[in-house]
Amino acid sequence: SKIHSFLQALPKCEHHIHLEGALSPSILFTLAARNQITLPQDDPAFGSPESLLARYDRFTSLDDFLHYYYIGMSVLVHAADFEALAWDYFQNAAKDGVAHAEVFFDPQAHIERGVTYETVLAGFTAARKRAESQFGISSELICCFLRHLPVPDCISTFELEAVQASFKSGAVIGIGLDSSEKPFPPEMFQEIYHKAEKLGLRRTAHAGEEGPVEYIRNALDTLHVERIDHGVRLAEDKGLLQRVAKEGKLLSVCPLSNVLLRCVTAISELPIRKFLDANVKFSINSDDPAYFGGYILDNYCAVHEAFQLSVEEWRGICEAGIEGSWCGQARKGEML
Ligand code: ADE
Ligand code: ZN
Repeated sequence: SKIHSFLQALPKCEHHIHLEGALSPSILFTLAARNQITLPQDDPAFGSPESLLARYDRFTSLDDFLHYYYIGMSVLVHAADFEALAWDYFQNAAKDGVAHAEVFFDPQAHIERGVTYETVLAGFTAARKRAESQFGISSELICCFLRHLPVPDCISTFELEAVQASFKSGAVIGIGLDSSEKPFPPEMFQEIYHKAEKLGLRRTAHAGEEGPVEYIRNALDTLHVERIDHGVRLAEDKGLLQRVAKEGKLLSVCPLSNVLLRCVTAISELPIRKFLDANVKFSINSDDPAYFGGYILDNYCAVHEAFQLSVEEWRGICEAGIEGSWCGQARKGEML
């Protein structure tokens, strides 16, 4: 349709995509066979790619999803696996008209299985280079820490020589915080965020997805984040909403994810109108596209269907996304 082609053609920036969340059931089963990884025998969902996909329609919460997410990524072993995963994402991103992508990955979830940080990074970096040359998609990597693991584990991962080297070289430009939100408030991770700030790294954190609006305030106050991932519960606190607008901090909203994980009952329940009215900047993102039934353009279309935004509003959303990106001014100029 006309609106679909208009949304496809917009210069979209994606700020909230977990590369491990782009693992489709079909690639998952292929890699499990190739790497001789045994999937859970006691869960009929793992019977076939089709039954697994059907199970994804019935997530009951963030933790119910995360259970499948962590089992899924256990099939990723070699650099070539990580490259194939990221390449599949970039192919979908190109099809959807993504100009620039800042992608998350979860090193602790791989390191604890004996897969080195260097292996993960080598695969993702190869795919990024290919996406740049073949599709003209610029991208950056953001290293996320898992809030359900002990803080000392997060700190020792942050301090690994290979991790520090990736910060220093610019291969990884920033840090994020993800996994089970409650009961792991942002302030638990102050030490890492303060170290990251001293190193001049970019900083974001998941907050206000399932967790309360206080987690958003605490992420801003104690972690000094420059963006908030999700942040949909910001609308519950008018003062904080105005503060975020004034500070120009961007929310990376993930509409299909919020419905699939039951944070809202429908896209129409998202505070998109409130954000627009209050001048809160936000981008629209896919989060874990292989698990939530759609890539970035599906999220744009779903928002349009629910809110019937004007052409000017859509252009404004994309401009805010470009401005809120962590790429250089020259690249922003090309996209605007
Ligand atoms: N890891 C992958 N997707 C996530 C989400 N939506 N929330 C928290 N952690 C995640
Ligand atoms: Zn996320």
